[in-house]
Amino acid sequence: MEKARTYQEKTLTLAEAAGLIKSGQTIGVGIAGAEPVGLLTEMANHALNLENVHFWTCLPMRVYDVFARSEMAGHVFNENWFYSPSDRHVHHEGRVSYIPNNLHRAAADKLYATKGKLDVCFATATPPNAEGYMSLSLGLIVQKDLLEAADLKIVEINQNLPWTNGDTLVHVSEIDYLVENHVPLVELPSAPPSDLEKEIGGYIAELIEDGSTLQLGIGGIPNAITAFIMDRHDLGIHTEMIVDGMVDLVEAGVVTNRKKTLHPGKIIGAFALGTQKLYDFLDHNEDVELYRGRYTNDPYVIAKNNQMISVNTALQVDILGQVCSQSIGTRQFSGTGGQLDTHRGAQMSSGGRGIIALRSTAKNGCISTIIPTLAPGAAVTVPSQDVDTIITEYGVAELRGRCVKDRMEALVRIAHPNYRDWIRDEAQRLGIVPKTQF
Ligand code: COA
Repeated sequence: MEKARTYQEKTLTLAEAAGLIKSGQTIGVGIAGAEPVGLLTEMANHALNLENVHFWTCLPMRVYDVFARSEMAGHVFNENWFYSPSDRHVHHEGRVSYIPNNLHRAAADKLYATKGKLDVCFATATPPNAEGYMSLSLGLIVQKDLLEAADLKIVEINQNLPWTNGDTLVHVSEIDYLVENHVPLVELPSAPPSDLEKEIGGYIAELIEDGSTLQLGIGGIPNAITAFIMDRHDLGIHTEMIVDGMVDLVEAGVVTNRKKTLHPGKIIGAFALGTQKLYDFLDHNEDVELYRGRYTNDPYVIAKNNQMISVNTALQVDILGQVCSQSIGTRQFSGTGGQLDTHRGAQMSSGGRGIIALRSTAKNGCISTIIPTLAPGAAVTVPSQDVDTIITEYGVAELRGRCVKDRMEALVRIAHPNYRDWIRDEAQRLGIVPKTQF
């Protein structure tokens, strides 16, 4: 019988690990805070010797030469579940393409498309404990699924990663190679809320009752509202992304998770992204559990939380109630992520509500975000048949179950006053809402 290789025997240098990659292979990559910084950086030194290597990435937090440099064309192609600024920047050069997905199906659908085949996974983890288990730490969305599926499993060990609980453990014996790279963690500080975000936050807060369970999405507004619910009691968290504001809510005694109907007593999430304050809070915290995106974001799982309130943000909403959160016209901006998953799951929960909150204008008031029709080519993130509640600094529009005429009126009321007549006139001119009404 072959003797089990030890941690030391499996440990390679970054150059040795990157040197294992062959032309034509596909590499699935840990995402956001769980990004394998050393391996991705090192790949730039090898990629020009390779042809047609595909990566599967999501929300890259740094600019990597292997994706950014134009001479990588033909050597590297990046398939991406959620664009960051670095992807937006090089999209027109043709080396990156968005993978449409609902987050809870992201890994499963990608593996469906390849009939389960993934050559390599680059993941990140904490150093192993005395029993040889490592924690996948900050990212469970796709990381564990990709690790399990890959023929070659390479894990970048970073002692700065917090040890998180939940479905996070992998054993050294399950991994082919390890590389050590103890770099500082990527941080995403949240800016203090603007006056406008405070107004929006106030409207959202009115809809969050004691005992509710919250999901907060990515972006300024969802993170800003935590300041406005400091007087609530016994809130719970079941979210995709764990953020700094949630730490404040726990420390203030607002989030206790006591009333949760699923995983009582625990914060549940799929990944965490914030500052060192958040990472310190997560480290060996028995009250927080991370699970795969396919679990946390499954709408049927989300719906098991009574009074589930999801809060996400968007770029445009049209009068049908179609929400675009991921593109500016034809230009890919970010991704669907878990927005539709959580918006649906919240509405399926007893007493739950899906909230989309956005500023009524963009670009210093030059563009209305409430519009008669989505911009040509804009991607629909939440279809009109799934939409629930839209909030701007002018108030709350409840669209669930309402006809298009009533949706338009509700949305006009929360549009910026400068654009209200225009929205109505355009809707009538286009025949979406006829002029003659009974
Ligand atoms: N038309 C044109 N530009 C617009 C616009 C519109 N209607 N609305 C916003 N913008 C511009 C802003 O001016 C800003 O431009 P800048 O970067 O040049 O300043 C940019 O788009 C981003 O807008 P902002 O509102 O600041 O974005 P944000 O950081 O708050 O993120 C989303 C908002 C919608 C992009 C982000 O939440 C997202 O990607 N959501 C989809 C995924 C999701 O919600 N997942 C949930 C689970 S985590």
